Formats: sequence, structure tokens, C-alpha cells
Amino acid sequence: MKLVFLGPPGVGKGTYSARIMEEMNIVQISTGDLLREAVGNKTELGMKAKGYMDAGELVPDQLIIDLMKERIDGMDSFILDGFPRTIPQAEALEKEIAIDNVVSFEAPEDMIIQRLSGRRMGNDGKIYHIDNNPAPEEVEVTQRDDDKPDAIKNRLVVYKNQTEPLIKYYTEKNKLIKVDATGSVEEIVTNTINKIEE
Ligand code: AP5
Repeated sequence: MKLVFLGPPGVGKGTYSARIMEEMNIVQISTGDLLREAVGNKTELGMKAKGYMDAGELVPDQLIIDLMKERIDGMDSFILDGFPRTIPQAEALEKEIAIDNVVSFEAPEDMIIQRLSGRRMGNDGKIYHIDNNPAPEEVEVTQRDDDKPDAIKNRLVVYKNQTEPLIKYYTEKNKLIKVDATGSVEEIVTNTINKIEE
């Protein structure tokens, strides 16, 4: 199954895709994780991407399209978490491979800001939240540079202008599944799996 997870920053795409990957045995590919790894390893891509990411801007389409073409080459099942994020990225993806469904997660802006400002990344690779899902004592956590207030504000504007048009794009292609992302992680994961399997 080839799925795309779409939704505003902080709605929970990474959290749900990590769970659904385990339950449905599908590989999750997160462009955000791939880019943060490239930044950490100071690769050429990472050096080019860092400034955009810290400011909450999107990395230029061509860099992402090249990265993803290589990453999904030959795969017949995956969850794309955070790609495509612009119409040109969606068009480039369509030329490479046919997607089965696009899951659009929805939650109000105040909830998204609460989730992003309290998010912490664990050194065990998991995503935590200071209130909603605190890390165990033995896990060290850090805050992402783009989870600071100014970057959060910008990411929400960028989402509205550049990514939200994909909802209409995929609705017109009859591929969109909407999921209410205001409940508990358990509820959202179960609901998403049910809708995908329908
Ligand atoms: P990326 O890492 O993809 O960031 P994002 O889309 O902004 O999404 P997030 O990772 O912030 O949020 P999420 O929806 O995964 O939420 P999470 O599960 O962590 O991208 C980062 C940057 O890379 C971009 O800004 C851009 O610069 C660049 N980039 C990436 N892809 C690109 C592309 N295609 N094109 C161009 N540039 C690109 O959850 C958030 C918090 O909420 C967590 O603390 C979690 O514990 C909590 N939470 C989640 N769900 C619930 C729930 N149901 N109840 C309570 N708490 C919850």
C-alpha cells in the first residue's frame, strides 16, 4: 500500500505513522527525519536545508524531489510522512508512482500550537510531549529548533499557503481520506487504519 500522510505541522503525522508502521507493517519515510539526519551529518543536502528548516520555511522543491525519487525507487509499499508538501512535489511524485490514498489529519490551530510547543525529541528516536506524553526519566530529550514560537508561526503560514492546496488537489483525484486528529493517539490510529482498509 502506498500512502501519503498530510496535515499541518504538529498535528501528529510522525506519531501516527510510527504506530501504523508497526501495526500494518509498512515502512514510514519522513522527509523531516531524512533532512534532520542530513543536517546532523553535515552532508551537502543538510548544509543547504538547515537555514530553511530553522526558519520554518520549506526546503526548495527540487532538492526534496531528488531526495525522494531516490528513496522510494523500487518500493511497492510505504507511508510518506511530510511529502509531498507543494503542488510541484505532488506532480513530481505522480510521475514516479501511483499513490493509493492520502490521509489528511485535521485539528484546530490552538491544539497544534500546544502540541508543537511542548514536543520533545527523545534520544531513543521517539516523539514525546511535556504534558501529553512525557518521556521516561532515562530518556534524554531535546527541543527542535523549529519548535520555537517564531518558527512555529511561520510554519503554520507556510502550511496554509503552500501545503493546504494539496487537500483540494487530492480530493479532485478521489484519493483523500480525512481523519479528525483531536482525540487520543489510540483513537486516531485505530480510526486511520479502519479508514485505510475500508
Ligand atoms: P517535518 O519534520 O515534516 O515537520 P512538520 O510537517 O512540520 O511536522 P512535525 O514533525 O512538526 O509534526 P507532526 O505532524 O509529525 O507531529 P508529531 O507526531 O511530532 O519537517 C520539518 C521541516 O523540514 C519543514 O519545516 C521543512 O523545512 C522541511 N521539510 C520536510 N519535508 C519537506 C518537504 N516535503 N518539502 C520541503 N521542505 C520539507 O506530534 C507533535 C506533538 O504532538 C508531539 O509532542 C506528540 O507527542 C503530540 N501529539 C501528537 N498527536 C497527539 C494527540 N493525538 N494527542 C496529544 N498529543 C499528541
